[in-house]
Amino acid sequence: LVHRLLAARAAALTQRATALVAAPVVVATALVRDGRVLAAQRSRPAALAGRWELPGGRVEPGESEADAVVRECREELGTIVRPDGRLGTDLPIEAGVLRVHRATPVPGAPEPRPLEHRDVRWVEPHELADLDWVDADRAVLGDLAAELLSQ
Ligand code: CDP
Repeated sequence: LVHRLLAARAAALTQRATALVAAPVVVATALVRDGRVLAAQRSRPAALAGRWELPGGRVEPGESEADAVVRECREELGTIVRPDGRLGTDLPIEAGVLRVHRATPVPGAPEPRPLEHRDVRWVEPHELADLDWVDADRAVLGDLAAELLSQ
């Protein structure tokens, strides 16, 4: 009995430790409207300034990924979006793991504007490859093009 209790205790501790060291999640938003996706040009840090990304950021403790998508789009773009499921696979990044979520603008929401970025623009599928994307986001371009063309 003592052995079984110890084993159960060890398993619980291992589970907790795994959760503690699990890679932080960063969400990125593929905001799609009329067959185009919103790309945002980074203004910081210097090494990434000028490169394009899908807007997003770190998921906060206790926050769902969908809630993080809504919050980041409100903070960074001043608009309201409705998350609509994952796009593509988990992408390893320095900060942890990047997960792209599809989203659509809520009807009547303000036009997205670059509150923290240098610029934002709506991009057509055939223009996707022309932008200088940050490395991780480049890996999702195939899935993104397929998504836009399926609309
Ligand atoms: O807003 P917050 O500081 O939470 O996040 P961030 O600095 O915009 O992004 C956190 C990390 O994820 C940075 O290292 C970004 O380069 C990376 N990231 C990315 O690779 N692709 C994105 N679409 C968004 C963030």
